[in-house]
Amino acid sequence: MLSCQKHLFSLPPGLHYLNCGFMSPLPLRVEEAGIAGIRKKRIPCDIFPGDFLAGLENVRDRFAGLVGAADSQRIALIPSVSYGLASVARNLEIAGSQNLIILARQFPSNVYAWRRLAATTGAELRTIAPPEQGADRAQQWNERLLEAIDGDTAVVALAQVHWTDGTLFDLARVGERCREVGAAFVIDGTQSVGALPVDVRRIEPDALICAGYKWLMGPYSLGVAYYGPRFENGVPLEETWLSRVGSDDFPRLIDYQDEYRPGVVRYEPGEISNFALVPMLGAALELIAGWGVESIEEYCRSLTDLLVAESTKAGFGAEAAEWRSGHLVGLRMPQGVDPTALQSELAGRKISVSVRGDVLRVSPHVYNDEEDIMALASALREVVESVVTP
Ligand SMILES: Cc1ncc(COP(=O)(O)O)c(C=O)c1O
Repeated sequence: MLSCQKHLFSLPPGLHYLNCGFMSPLPLRVEEAGIAGIRKKRIPCDIFPGDFLAGLENVRDRFAGLVGAADSQRIALIPSVSYGLASVARNLEIAGSQNLIILARQFPSNVYAWRRLAATTGAELRTIAPPEQGADRAQQWNERLLEAIDGDTAVVALAQVHWTDGTLFDLARVGERCREVGAAFVIDGTQSVGALPVDVRRIEPDALICAGYKWLMGPYSLGVAYYGPRFENGVPLEETWLSRVGSDDFPRLIDYQDEYRPGVVRYEPGEISNFALVPMLGAALELIAGWGVESIEEYCRSLTDLLVAESTKAGFGAEAAEWRSGHLVGLRMPQGVDPTALQSELAGRKISVSVRGDVLRVSPHVYNDEEDIMALASALREVVESVVTP
């Protein structure tokens, strides 16, 4: 098992940062890569055509390794999840008689794209909700999802882990069902990739889209996407010069090329070669590969299992262990607790967590240890009575 890696970050002593689901703190190594990148522009003649591509290739290779893609040409860098999903939505042909499937309370970036598509095509947008409660809530939610997919389903867009409370979805089964009916299978991996193993060869998604600033430990404004064969010859949102064959031959850029470079590079936006952000994400992916995703998951799970056991004593609840992720867990409140008041009480004790919907979302990483968990558990016990609304 990994040991605590706090020495690789610059979190101040006394802060219990349990909020990687909001954003990861910046690892020192990633910060250094960013500073070196900013400094590069001090002397522009030290920036060469190859520099526009090398950092991108490094990120593509590393992300391909992380998600099990056989070929890094399937990987594109993106500025945001909404951008990555807009490329997907643009390249799907949907008839008014079809349906699009999402889960209840998904992150908005993975909702608005489908609302727009439903509005413009007349297709039905099906939102699959869980049962209100019950010990088998997550299992039933998964079953409802599978039952909703039918011969008219054009796309199923969801996440591996629900961003509010860590409920797990069985991607292998959903992928299988999508292939049976010919639906596009689209995954938002933002709250799982980097902390939970995912293998695109096994689950065969058509797209896997990730923001880079949470579990990938990168900077804000740079994410990564895997696009499967369905999107091989699609139309990008922007017609960039860097995505064309021969684009590193600067003197010949006006020999315009209609042909894109191989793979899915066409889905990258203009000026993607940000000399600070790209090396930062490369350094972050290297760090994650060094720890190993399985080890990160195991480490985080040991912390969240302890939290669930301890917080139960104060009347909080959580999804059953086999249906909740190890790195992100939503604690359900005891009756009458005001979540926002609870969060601000915790913030006053230097404990950072999030409220998402009606749960307290706790999302540790390798910079946390049992002391952080015990600080949160005892704070919950101490303050819970004071934040009950009459
Ligand atoms: C599940 C999920 N997807 C996507 C995002 C970010 O989306 P975008 O990059 O479009 O801002 C977040 C941010 O919290 C998220 O939790």
